[in-house]
Amino acid sequence: MREAPQPNRFRDSWAGTINAQRAGDEVLLAGWVHRRRDHGGLIFIDLRDRSGLIQLVFHPESAGGAFALAEALRPEHVVTVRGTVERRDAVNVNPNLATGEVEVAVVEAQSLAESETPPFAIDEDTPVDETLRLRYRWLDLRRQGMLDAMLTRTHIVRTMREVLDRRDFLELETPILTRSTPEGARDFLVPSRLTPGTLYALPQSPQLFKQLFMMAGYERYYQIARCFRDEDLRADRQPEFTQLDLEMAFVEEDDVIETMEAVMGAVFEATGFGVPAAPWPRLSYDEAVARFGNDRPDTRFGLEIHDVGALVAGSDFKVFQGVLDSGGVVRALNAGAREMSRSELDGLNEVVQIHGAKAVAPIYVEAGGWAGNLAKFFTPEQIAAVNAELGATDGDLLLFVADQPKTAAASLGALRLHLGERFGLIPEGRHDALWITDFPMFERDESTPARPRWAALHHPFTAPRGDLDDPESVLSRAYDLVLDGVEIGGGSIRIHTPEVQRAVFAHLGLDADEAQERFGFLLEALRFGAPPHGGIAMGIDRIAAIISGRDSIRDVIAFPKTASGADPLTGAPAPVDARQLRELGLQSLTTPPATGA
Ligand code: AMO
Repeated sequence: MREAPQPNRFRDSWAGTINAQRAGDEVLLAGWVHRRRDHGGLIFIDLRDRSGLIQLVFHPESAGGAFALAEALRPEHVVTVRGTVERRDAVNVNPNLATGEVEVAVVEAQSLAESETPPFAIDEDTPVDETLRLRYRWLDLRRQGMLDAMLTRTHIVRTMREVLDRRDFLELETPILTRSTPEGARDFLVPSRLTPGTLYALPQSPQLFKQLFMMAGYERYYQIARCFRDEDLRADRQPEFTQLDLEMAFVEEDDVIETMEAVMGAVFEATGFGVPAAPWPRLSYDEAVARFGNDRPDTRFGLEIHDVGALVAGSDFKVFQGVLDSGGVVRALNAGAREMSRSELDGLNEVVQIHGAKAVAPIYVEAGGWAGNLAKFFTPEQIAAVNAELGATDGDLLLFVADQPKTAAASLGALRLHLGERFGLIPEGRHDALWITDFPMFERDESTPARPRWAALHHPFTAPRGDLDDPESVLSRAYDLVLDGVEIGGGSIRIHTPEVQRAVFAHLGLDADEAQERFGFLLEALRFGAPPHGGIAMGIDRIAAIISGRDSIRDVIAFPKTASGADPLTGAPAPVDARQLRELGLQSLTTPPATGA
């Protein structure tokens, strides 16, 4: 709390800010009964407001019925009290409480509201079933953990605004009811009553509007923007989430990266989150995938992946040789000297099978060679060469995966993370930020195997680098920011001429008519003097979760959805009246499930 509250009939001070300097003062406080202890004769109440806790003491002899009221108070009742700040006896000082040196001897108390018994304890940090927490979110938000997360979130967003405001960015809003912006997910659609049969889409991001701001000459835009994506949910994905979205004109990659380093550097500093000072390292997409198995590498620990295909080529081990003959790869990592039981080693297969690999081949290094029955398939030279490549010494566990390059990378990437967690390899307090650059422009969309197509790896407005006619190898001018193995942001330099934009649409399988129909407004705007421009969007929920040390972004969103997209608090999504549907020209073909909110 930076300032005392404006005094009114409820309070003149924040409970959590009262310290020994105020001994002797009369204070007026308001808040919730956090805890109540009856010491036969004296009643102690911890009073809670947003600023913290303070101990109130009620004496039986205090006038005006305060003591009688205290006898009736229960957890989460709401009160206002007047009393005197008194120092506690040395033995009663509570060093764990900011106000622990004092207490307030109450002379007057008034009940403002009662509370039913909460379905879980507010005053303890005990685990509570998440659906129950979401069903009673207003109570859950009273708990210290959630309050801390909301404070951190506020702090993050405030810092972002401060830095961008200093740098002359305009904070502008963009529509929520709009047309589809492709970011690779399904749209949430909103039927139009005024033009039945037509629908708005909720924005997957403000991408096209922010580009139009650049074409309008606004130079520097940002927004704390809500985005909507209908995709399968995970711990780090919500159907609606919040971005720091920004865009700049007359810039190249380095300008946007420098701007975001200034913003995020300030955020880390303001929240005391120990990321080394910027500039942060940059890694190409290819290198990240080769060394860490994915494009959001957790670089806080080693266990890097090595390609050993050339070193084991020609061996008698049919599994490796067969894969190499079919254009696959053999890759490995040195897990270090790890004692793992047979069954635990077998369990590693499950880790890679999720990513499509068949199995992991584990080999222990022993007396400079390899233990176990695989060793006989390899020459001593091959074994020595692999050991040298992996920096292996006696006792080390080497893990091999032979498969097509994508599968091998993803599998070893997952193994690496599994081992990192299993053996606690991430040093306490270490945090790494890094940029991934040089992404491929296109990736194969295999969703309809009969008709494989190219899809944009970022979005179709990202500028290509290289020859567009060679979709396999053309790179994009995109960059992602990765923090502790999580993609927290991504952006790019954009296409700013209609010719290139049309060519990219064509590669994505949009013919000229379709491109005109869906993105005619963009193609037109590009014909009226569009400056070179680029930007980035940061996932605020993910940033807040990492800084707060939470595993799920649901723990840093005030009112999130469950993994099935439901809100147990309001019961959304819910069926609507037949009349409402009729007005929209809609008819439901399915009977919605009974709701039990
Ligand atoms: P992108 O799709 O990479 O880029 O999104 C930017 C960042 O938003 C976060 N994010 C999410 N967070 C929670 N739940 C989700 N479902 C979710 N999806 C994405 C991630 C991600 O890095 N318009 C472009 C940005 C640009 O090009 O400027 C865009 O939205 O942290």
